[in-house]
Amino acid sequence: MKAIVYYKYGSPDVLKCEEIEKPTAGDDEVLIRVRAASLNALDWRLMRGKPLFARLVIGGLRKPKITRPGRDVAGQVEAVGRNVTQFKPGDEVFGVCRGAFAEYVCAIEDKLAPKPANISFEDAAAVPVAALTALQGLRDKGRIQRGHKVLVDGASGGVGTFAVQIAKSFGAEVTAVCSTRNVDTARSIGADHVIDYTREDFTQSGQRYDLILAANAYHSIFDYRRALGQDGIYVMAGGGWAQILQGMLLGPLLSLIGSKKMCFFITKASKTDLVLLKDFLAAGKIVPVIDRRYPLSDVAEALRYLEEGHARGKVVITLEYNNKT
Ligand SMILES: NC(=O)c1ccc[n+]([C@@H]2O[C@H](COP(=O)([O-])OP(=O)(O)OC[C@H]3O[C@@H](n4cnc5c(N)ncnc54)[C@H](OP(=O)(O)O)[C@@H]3O)[C@@H](O)[C@H]2O)c1
Repeated sequence: MKAIVYYKYGSPDVLKCEEIEKPTAGDDEVLIRVRAASLNALDWRLMRGKPLFARLVIGGLRKPKITRPGRDVAGQVEAVGRNVTQFKPGDEVFGVCRGAFAEYVCAIEDKLAPKPANISFEDAAAVPVAALTALQGLRDKGRIQRGHKVLVDGASGGVGTFAVQIAKSFGAEVTAVCSTRNVDTARSIGADHVIDYTREDFTQSGQRYDLILAANAYHSIFDYRRALGQDGIYVMAGGGWAQILQGMLLGPLLSLIGSKKMCFFITKASKTDLVLLKDFLAAGKIVPVIDRRYPLSDVAEALRYLEEGHARGKVVITLEYNNKT
């Protein structure tokens, strides 16, 4: 089968499309014929292996341990391991795996959910990591409540476009922060207010929020703190390395002072949450925003585009035979 692989850290030039052996499902695994996959910032961060301390966390100091990019997958079950009870060959599924940029991939049963019949493979593949991040950031870390004033920074990217929609489905009053060209998109996915960051700095406006989700953090943690109301919560999913370090190191310390809470978090590939997202998708509560689609052979181009940091929603890989069926 064809798969995208890399054997050294670097730019998307290190990616190769190779013929490798088709995998076999382990006891708790499902073999999926991939119909679509989607990109996440994690894919280019792992490929780059930068900064160096990140290699200590992920393993592979000199060369990558993880050599197959792609976490988000949607496809058709081809075979199941002997302990698998929830899926059978022919079922349509989506979820989280390793090495989704390939014709076939194995995924653990508990990291998959059934794909709603009314949803395309591309839409389903756009969901897992980004929407899980938005859901867990808002609900678990941010303790979102109906009527909360919620601000999403980086609202037009993969995580942000789901965060705006999920926050609205929880009954929050949502402010989206994005650039001029994405203002209409932010409104179309339900934002009550949109702040164009090229014209206005929300951290200086005097407005206060119950919950700020930084899908992409571009300000210092102190700026975000100032924009929180009494008992407000700042949740950071991603951003630059400076912001990530601030979130990890200063967040817990700043949370000890006064009533505002600040944290960085890592998304969990939770089966229960994937099933909840499946219901959101089927009911139209979340509608994936897909910016661009690429064939498997162009994963390098797709990652180059995502890495520029201005994708509108998700970037999706579509397997060629998708067009024929
Ligand atoms: N903690 C976790 O477990 C976890 C899980 C998933 C993702 N993440 C992280 O979350 C981050 C976001 O992921 P993503 O998939 O949403 O990334 P993404 O799709 O690449 O984000 C791109 C978006 O960021 C926006 N943006 C760029 N500069 C901005 C600015 N100054 N202010 C506001 N928005 C700006 C862009 O909008 P414009 O074009 O309008 O500028 C674009 O729409 C990444 O850093 C990723 O590593 C973390």
